[in-house]
Amino acid sequence: MTHRVLTGITTTGTPHLGNYVGAIRPAIAASREPGVESFFFLADYHALIKCDEPARIERSRLEIAATWIAAGLDTDRATFYRQSDIVEIPELTWLLTCVASKGLMNRAHAYKAAADANVAAGEDVDAGITMGLFSYPILMAADILMFNAHRVPVGRDQVQHIEMARDLAQRFNHLFGAGTDLFVLPEAAIDERVAMLPGLDGRKMSKSYDNTVPLFEGGAKGLRDAIARVVTDSRLPGEPKNPEESHLVSIFEAFASDAERTAFRAELTAGMGWGDAKAHVVERIERDMGPLRERYADLIAHPERIEETLLDGARKARAVAAPFLAELRDAVGLRRMVAVATATPRKVINVKLPTFKQYSEAGKFYFKLAAADGRVLLQSAAFESGRDAGQWVARLKSDGAAAVPDAPVAHGDGVSAQDVADALAALAP
Ligand code: TRP
Repeated sequence: MTHRVLTGITTTGTPHLGNYVGAIRPAIAASREPGVESFFFLADYHALIKCDEPARIERSRLEIAATWIAAGLDTDRATFYRQSDIVEIPELTWLLTCVASKGLMNRAHAYKAAADANVAAGEDVDAGITMGLFSYPILMAADILMFNAHRVPVGRDQVQHIEMARDLAQRFNHLFGAGTDLFVLPEAAIDERVAMLPGLDGRKMSKSYDNTVPLFEGGAKGLRDAIARVVTDSRLPGEPKNPEESHLVSIFEAFASDAERTAFRAELTAGMGWGDAKAHVVERIERDMGPLRERYADLIAHPERIEETLLDGARKARAVAAPFLAELRDAVGLRRMVAVATATPRKVINVKLPTFKQYSEAGKFYFKLAAADGRVLLQSAAFESGRDAGQWVARLKSDGAAAVPDAPVAHGDGVSAQDVADALAALAP
């Protein structure tokens, strides 16, 4: 079976080095593994949660799409799409919302941080908090479960969301799977080495900290200027530096081979100045990013090509999502109005079938075979015991018409041998 890898990037900003190293580059590497089917998307519905500036959303979608493609994503092999082109995702979000416990959502980091900040500021706990923010993990679960992804490469800050997706998948399977698993339980995949690329100030590189190194914006000069702003200690050239404490080293190592790492660390320990070290870092990053930058510029100049690629991706994604959603709708009971199987058929069949009736009269025992409409087909002679009558009934049922000539029975008025044979055939075990 193929292994599905899925990840998305929220389209609120300009792609930075952290997005590339932490998400795009490992995802593209994973998409090239044999037996892997990958789903990568622009999380533009998630962007609406954090951003109410349409122009920014528009620009960010374009830049992030161009970055994926420039970074070498093979869009024929991978399924690359916009979340908002997949109408099945908001629909699945609702199915999941209906099984999501509010208590679980109260504990989601993004909501909790906002609520805690409100309380700390003496505000109402939910001041300024939208339902979008509150339900953020459910939309994310729908992104993942819609395609039954096995592996979800994300930063450490997203791990809780993957766990919530697992929880929702489990609950849904339990409630509606009727013993089978509708959803695969996804796992977070974190590359320990690069999961938390530090930014200029040493905190996680993130647009919310304003400490990012731009990927393409500003060209090679933009990169050099940003790296120049990486905070270092005040040791002078010639003084030994401690590579363990330097986030400039962490940034370098996100691009370097093992041999390059060892060499860089050795030079720092031997007293290389921070200025030289930074030049080194810029040169190393530029070696990887330079060629990508040209492709990126070309793509940004042709948005219609990107649009085409994304629409193709949406078609591929919906070919998976639509039939699966139909199955899920059925599982929860959203079904077409067709004749529903109820308990009636059994009765109907009994009425339509001929029946044997045993009875006693004046100390003697009899049976008769009646057609579905009540007409008497066979009438037995009198037996001394009910057991004898019963044995003939059993024999007529099992042997059918073949037993009739020997049986102590008379045909009803106007009843042919064929009528009897048909009736007995209908009763045949
Ligand atoms: N919430 C993720 C982030 O901000 C982006 C995202 C949305 C995502 N849906 C996803 C990541 C599904 C992985 C899988 O980084």
